[in-house]
Amino acid sequence: MPTSASPADRLLVALDVPSLDEADALLGRLDGIITGCKIGSQLFTAAGPAAIETARKRGFRVFLDLKYHDIPNTVGAAVRQATRLGVFMLNVHASGGLAMARAAAEAAAKAAGDFAIPRPLCLGVTVLTSLDRRALQREVGVPMSVESHVLHLASLAREAGLDGCVASAQEISPLRVAMGPRWVIVTPGIRFEAGAAVGSPRADDQVRIATPRRALVAGADYLVVGRPVSAAKDPAAAAAAIVAELATP
Ligand code: C5P
Repeated sequence: MPTSASPADRLLVALDVPSLDEADALLGRLDGIITGCKIGSQLFTAAGPAAIETARKRGFRVFLDLKYHDIPNTVGAAVRQATRLGVFMLNVHASGGLAMARAAAEAAAKAAGDFAIPRPLCLGVTVLTSLDRRALQREVGVPMSVESHVLHLASLAREAGLDGCVASAQEISPLRVAMGPRWVIVTPGIRFEAGAAVGSPRADDQVRIATPRRALVAGADYLVVGRPVSAAKDPAAAAAAIVAELATP
């Protein structure tokens, strides 16, 4: 994404709601404030492709966050279908390996050609923002620091032909240095300053968090924000406040 992209284009609000009606209502409130949204497992499982169609009809670009992680053939086939649905960005778990990530990148390019539509950006999920070093080592069994593992998975994603990665704010700077300016970095785990310290209720289940401004300054292309907007009393005001924060010179 060009560095000149507007703040309104950089904020992707996660439609983490249980029904199409609720997603549509949230989109209605965000209309005119942001241009993109993220559809993940909850809404897609509840409503299917209609969720994407609803968002696109309202003029929103859709990041389909289904984090595919399966054998290469299955992931490639799923990416083909996601591409056909017209999403502008999708993701796979980079930890699924080189062949799997390559199948995703190739399927997106082929489907875009076959259906004469733009190829979606394909990202590799690195280490979930809900994991810290202890959980990564003890539970997932990866004997590395989070940063080293994120950098390792990002390199693998690039070798496979993916366009970028999903990573927490803490890894944005080292990723930018290692991967260069054209690598797309998408960062979830965004929280406002007040009450957002790790372990506070405002952090929810996220442990590697940052404010919108800090993530942007560190070099993120897109910020994914869920509960700070969707669970706010006034989601439109919350989204507008983030956009305003991003626009502050
Ligand atoms: O509510 P919250 O702001 O924590 O939502 C973050 C969103 O980003 C959720 O939809 C979550 O699934 C997604 N996400 C994440 N960490 C990743 C990839 C996606 O939190 N590594």
